Amino acid sequence: MLASGTGTNLQALIETSDPHSEICVVITDRDGTGAADKAAKAGLPARVVRYGDFADRDSFCSELVRVAESYDAEALVLAGFMRILSPLVVERYRDRILNVHPSLLPAFPGANAVAQAIRHGVKVTGVTVHFVDEEVDHGPIIAQRPVEVLPGDSEETLHERIQIEEHKLYPEVVAGFARGLVSVVDGVVVWR
Ligand code: GRF
Repeated sequence: MLASGTGTNLQALIETSDPHSEICVVITDRDGTGAADKAAKAGLPARVVRYGDFADRDSFCSELVRVAESYDAEALVLAGFMRILSPLVVERYRDRILNVHPSLLPAFPGANAVAQAIRHGVKVTGVTVHFVDEEVDHGPIIAQRPVEVLPGDSEETLHERIQIEEHKLYPEVVAGFARGLVSVVDGVVVWR
């Protein structure tokens, strides 16, 4: 599991405790994250790979892979991980890196997806879980769930309702993936 922030999706995955999707390590890219606290409370191994300790993104990403491999990680599950992964990570874990994003991709990729949705005045946004490829917030879409934008919504109120859906959808998708129910055929996700 890779996270940079508060770790509410990590907590949702911990609480689901699916026997097929054991979290072997939580890796964060900076000190003092809520995600690392939640990992510690759950008794999960947590490691910090500080982005600033490395000369460039490739060296940072090589260390991420090394740490993940040292815990025998079979997949990488990203939740609010604020670093772009180098192609070397995507190649090593091709179709085995999952991400959750707070919009209905391909609409509103990037760090401010919820603010973009409000700015554009869309009436429906939502949650996307997708495999990660070499582009940001891109790659085969595994599952989506819509969330209505209500009149008067702020970024905070809308993000809160999106997160309620994230916390339900992500554990379901991770469990399905871990059971081998999800595959990628010609760049498109097929559920069995
Ligand atoms: C989530 O909204 C996720 O969609 C986005 O970053 C946020 C992470 O939240 N990629 P948390 O750290 O899991 O609470």
